[in-house]
Amino acid sequence: MTISRMVLVGFMGAGKSTVGRRLARKLGWRFVDMDAAIESKLGASVTDIFERYGEGRFRAMEEKTAEELLGEERIVIASGGGWAARPGRLAGMPDGTASVWLEVHPEEALRRVGHEAGRRPLLDVGDPLSAARSLLEERVEQYEEADLRVDTTGHSVDDVTERILEILEEHELDHDAE
Ligand code: S3P
Repeated sequence: MTISRMVLVGFMGAGKSTVGRRLARKLGWRFVDMDAAIESKLGASVTDIFERYGEGRFRAMEEKTAEELLGEERIVIASGGGWAARPGRLAGMPDGTASVWLEVHPEEALRRVGHEAGRRPLLDVGDPLSAARSLLEERVEQYEEADLRVDTTGHSVDDVTERILEILEEHELDHDAE
């Protein structure tokens, strides 16, 4: 089957947005970051959305946004870390979708996201490392449902992107790759 869309999943700080943007450029596809799409729809940051409307409303927006994006072709989607964590989510992807789990250790995830404010209220707590560890433990089983799995800890964005492209070369891709 021809792959015509890719969805990157995994924990906060896994590099979904950075790698996704690079992959899309290489493939000549559109790139969309789900958090950014939700922020622009509601005109508020993820943290503000959590505070003003609650996590439930954010999750509903996430679901709706993903549904819209998964109807497109030649698109790379960077999902938010909680989107793929719902049981059964990755089993229900439309045909032609490759889901890629970018793995990261909690320590490395925190190092990567430490300097960015406004997007990750779930880590804005007294002990973010414990929060990251327990969230990741809860979610791993769902992330494991992805079609592909690429470890990112200790690897550059270029390495991770190349690795994904290598794996995908075994499949038929609808692309204008350089
Ligand atoms: C979340 C991850 C964030 C963002 C929100 C909730 C999560 O996205 O959607 O803070 O539940 O893991 P990133 O994975 O892009 O950081």
